[in-house]
Amino acid sequence: MTAEAGVVREPDRAAAPAALTALLADVSALVGSVREAAWIVEHLDTGADDPAAVRDAALALADRRAAGEPLQYVLGTWQFRTLELAVDRRVLIPRPETEQVVEVALAELMRVASGRAASRGPLVCVDLGTGSGAIALSLAAEGVGTVAGAELEIWATDRSVDALDVVRANLDALAATDPAAADRVTVAEGSWFDALPGRLERRVDLVVANPPYVSEEEYADLDPTVRDWEPVGALVAPRGSSGVAGMADVEAVVAGAVRWLRPTGALVVELAPSQAYGAIDAARRAGFLRVGTARDLAGRLRMLVAER
Ligand SMILES: C[S@@+](CC[C@H](N)C(=O)[O-])C[C@H]1O[C@@H](n2cnc3c(N)ncnc32)[C@H](O)[C@@H]1O
Repeated sequence: MTAEAGVVREPDRAAAPAALTALLADVSALVGSVREAAWIVEHLDTGADDPAAVRDAALALADRRAAGEPLQYVLGTWQFRTLELAVDRRVLIPRPETEQVVEVALAELMRVASGRAASRGPLVCVDLGTGSGAIALSLAAEGVGTVAGAELEIWATDRSVDALDVVRANLDALAATDPAAADRVTVAEGSWFDALPGRLERRVDLVVANPPYVSEEEYADLDPTVRDWEPVGALVAPRGSSGVAGMADVEAVVAGAVRWLRPTGALVVELAPSQAYGAIDAARRAGFLRVGTARDLAGRLRMLVAER
């Protein structure tokens, strides 16, 4: 679509080159979806000098999609809030519900920032299990506008070295468009809080995480587009000590957070709706004083929100 002086118009189909129309039809036939075909064709430089090369590239992408690969991996990038992130099989495809996790995390940051003087230095945020960097880089890109007057120090951690390579590529891309945002982010390898330097103990203002929370039983029944393509280490977690399926990593993050957060700090953890009440119990046991949940845009309980 094109936008001129605020008017959004559909492209003039009659004016579309016949070759492009034929290509869209061929890609649609391969992937079984006109919408996905449009994504694939729009992703390529259809104005390039060599239409045959564009056609070959589009059909190669369509073949991958037809073989079951998720559209996001086929395209190689995916929009997450304000960012276009590189994604491939090394990382989880960032989901819309995680965009809402960032929204809740930004609100928590604003609350923390309003209670402290900017002269106390940057607000420290930690994104545990960062994957593509979706949460950490969004906080870096959007956070300063939210917490006017305060700077941010953001840690993006993962135990997967493959994922950290993807984060670094996304950080390089962010540095090209918003160097100040990219400068706020430090990438670190390690299991949950082990990735952090000791000097951050009791100095963290916000811990946010989207840990694996699919149970082993649910994994077998997942859509093959997810199960056969996305990293199992990003999806599946063992049963928690409370007995709740898939909750061991959520519990690990909740139990570890108290030692790293300032007394005013906050924890936001994405989870499955069936884990919400178990997570509330875990947070109370860990010593959080104000504990609640937040919903995604579909109204499902998808986050633990805990304040010290
Ligand atoms: C559900 S994915 C979330 C990725 C990204 N934060 C997002 O929201 O799209 C979980 C991430 O946690 C990482 N992970 C799994 N176990 C971990 C551990 N023990 N320590 C640190 N990261 C871990 C995985 O490698 C994966 O990148």
